[in-house]
Amino acid sequence: MSDATRCLRIATAAKVNLTLEMLRRRPDGYHDLASVFCAIELWDELTFTPSPDLRLSVQGAHLPCDERNLCWRAATGLAALAGVRPAVSIAVRKQIPVGGGLGGGSGNAAGTLAALRQFWRLAVPAAELARLAAELGSDVPFFLHGGTALAAGRGEQLTPLPALTGYRVVVLAPAAGVSTGAVYGALRDFRPAAGAASATLATALRAGAVPAPETWLVNDLEAPAAAISPTVAADRAVLQQLDLPPWRLSGSGGSWFVLASPAQAAAVVATLRAAFADRAVWDTSPATVGWRVLESNGV
Ligand code: C5P
Repeated sequence: MSDATRCLRIATAAKVNLTLEMLRRRPDGYHDLASVFCAIELWDELTFTPSPDLRLSVQGAHLPCDERNLCWRAATGLAALAGVRPAVSIAVRKQIPVGGGLGGGSGNAAGTLAALRQFWRLAVPAAELARLAAELGSDVPFFLHGGTALAAGRGEQLTPLPALTGYRVVVLAPAAGVSTGAVYGALRDFRPAAGAASATLATALRAGAVPAPETWLVNDLEAPAAAISPTVAADRAVLQQLDLPPWRLSGSGGSWFVLASPAQAAAVVATLRAAFADRAVWDTSPATVGWRVLESNGV
């Protein structure tokens, strides 16, 4: 196999937070949270090929292709950690909306770490990769494994959970991107019982008997997101008028998701498409991984 034809193509998932509870503001400016992360079958595609230096291109979204991009920082961070040159070309094809609270960029970063470990044939231990992932962003470690997980700390401390079964996750694309930092900055209230919904859902998933989503589906960032983003507030007003199964903002927004039974999903998609004419709607299921190999040639 000649080096020039080596190629690794992967898909990286999106996520929703089935619960997202804010516990406290930390001295380092971050927030301790409790959350049940759920990877979903909505994917970006990343292709890694040989190159004399680091090159990055993005299709499907307007994103910087330099050190401001998390894929770039993942590649340079891993190369520095392993003591190799960051020589690779990365082509990203975005489907997951940017700034939508679906973790697309975090998934791209985690996928880049995992893929380049293979592509550059590095012996970096899993714990080192997880530490580097947490440096890149609070949600990045989750995507190294994906599936469903209980998150603590600032989101980087993860305990795997059985997947939520019996529900489709119908996702409504954001009207506009929302800045995660700005939403956290607008967070004022910490509920006294914050953390209880995540613990309840985790216990129920382990027991294989999950109560109705109304009893645990919470997002403490929804109120601050609606307070700072007129589009989030407007979306919420529309959603409240619709006849829908339980729904919530995804992460810090501005995407929304509806938990529908398989029998309800088609009607939910039709309702959202009618109410939000120009917006993408995806009918997804929970994903068991955070990234997966689509094609491997000589890697
Ligand atoms: O970790 P990440 O870079 O994704 O976080 C983006 C911003 O979101 C942080 O700069 C911080 O303002 C906020 N954040 C937070 N608490 C968390 C995660 C993120 O305050 N647990």
